[in-house]
Amino acid sequence: RRRDDLAGVRVLVTAGGTREPIDPVRFLGNRSSGKMGFALAAAAAARGAEVQLVAAPTSLTTPPGVIRTDVTTALDMHAAVFDRVADVDVVVKAAAVADFRPVTAAGSKLKKSAGAPRLELVPNPDILADLGERRRGGHAQPLLVGFAAETDDVEAYGRDKLARKNADLLVVNDVGASDAGFGVDTNRVVILGRDGARTEVGLATKRAVAERILDAVVDLLPAGPAS
Ligand code: C5P
Repeated sequence: RRRDDLAGVRVLVTAGGTREPIDPVRFLGNRSSGKMGFALAAAAAARGAEVQLVAAPTSLTTPPGVIRTDVTTALDMHAAVFDRVADVDVVVKAAAVADFRPVTAAGSKLKKSAGAPRLELVPNPDILADLGERRRGGHAQPLLVGFAAETDDVEAYGRDKLARKNADLLVVNDVGASDAGFGVDTNRVVILGRDGARTEVGLATKRAVAERILDAVVDLLPAGPAS
């Protein structure tokens, strides 16, 4: 069933953790490795999709057949995604986007001798929520897949996020476990859909988890799954 079931489908994947500069050498970051997003991009391309990958800094290599754009900050990622959104059928937001950034980045390296700096933070735009809003504005496309990394009440937060951000699918993972989530090659997720739909994916490689997420995407595409 999977072979070529995404043929001709235009998929945009975001991956990795954004970096928010403090000064030319320091940034606020997070523990995302990019592995889940890169696995999704690789799996979608292998199933025939035209895949664009908007990647925050990571050491991973670009999967075959994938067009990659590198970004650093949440604002860069927001711009890169909105530049492309009119031309894609599916957006998968696997990136860990910083919720806050320093209000200004110092132009030169902060000196230790000047004492501990006070960082003033301002909120970043929520890219997924903005994509959801854009759809409320009358755009039917694209299909939106979000992620939630939580340590407690994983599914309840996931359901809330699905509704609040107007997504079609929300993949939740418990980042409190050592064999799933950040950095490792395996993951354990629950895929939440609208109207209470729920698919549990037990511990598996990120590639295998990616295939299951894409199965759920195929089921929601206008043409439906190829037989
Ligand atoms: O609200 P939370 O950060 O847990 O939501 C996670 C989901 O929202 C992920 O899909 C992430 O890529 C997306 N997100 C985003 N822009 C932000 C924060 C999160 O697109 N500023």
